Amino acid sequence: METPVSLLSLQPEIEPDRSVEQINRAEVVDIPAAPAPLLTPATTVEPVLIYKTVDELSVRAANCRLCSLANTRTQVVFGSGNADADIVFIGEVPDSDEDQQGEPFVGSTGKLLDRMLISIGLDRKAVYCLNIVKCRPPNGRDPRVEEVQACSLWLEQQLESLQPKVICALGRVAAQTLLKTEETLAELRGSWHDYQGTPVWVTYHPAFLLRSPQQKQKCWSDLIELMEHYGC
Ligand code: URA
Repeated sequence: METPVSLLSLQPEIEPDRSVEQINRAEVVDIPAAPAPLLTPATTVEPVLIYKTVDELSVRAANCRLCSLANTRTQVVFGSGNADADIVFIGEVPDSDEDQQGEPFVGSTGKLLDRMLISIGLDRKAVYCLNIVKCRPPNGRDPRVEEVQACSLWLEQQLESLQPKVICALGRVAAQTLLKTEETLAELRGSWHDYQGTPVWVTYHPAFLLRSPQQKQKCWSDLIELMEHYGC
């Protein structure tokens, strides 16, 4: 059997200014090393994960140039924590502390996330944290649609590799991106959703809670319910 070759491994650099629409998904899936003989009936080539573990993916993502954030980031913030965790927390984008340190949720937002986790009996090291977009947008601006789309290539493989029992989406951007919906956070909170067979629970982003501490109680109730269903 022919050895599959990853096009990404052949062509790691994609011009940052290229729009995501132009980035053919075939570029990140595997193709046969040689063209099939002319008379062979066409077969569908299924995507094959070459980088199976999150560590392998993380090494690969460190050189990502799928969008123009590659020009301004300090480093890619892929994710951190226990790769075997039952529960994965998903934020939005790295902030400046994360951009400097290369880990998600290490700044003031991360300190609050740590306290939120402790309040429900979870140790930060026991869970896995990641962001929808892996690179900090310049000056902390919101991520653009094309940046979210480009990064979904990593997000999908990361979640495929982690295989959590449950996902907790922190804030609107994480929830809407993951669930491919435009429903508001208020509409999404309080009921279970599905990401490719994995249950998804939605609550506030800790950065929002730093600005609106009066909402912390509601977030705590969300987290209690999450733990009641999935005492991870
Ligand atoms: N906000 C996020 O969504 N993620 C981080 O890592 C830090 C702040």
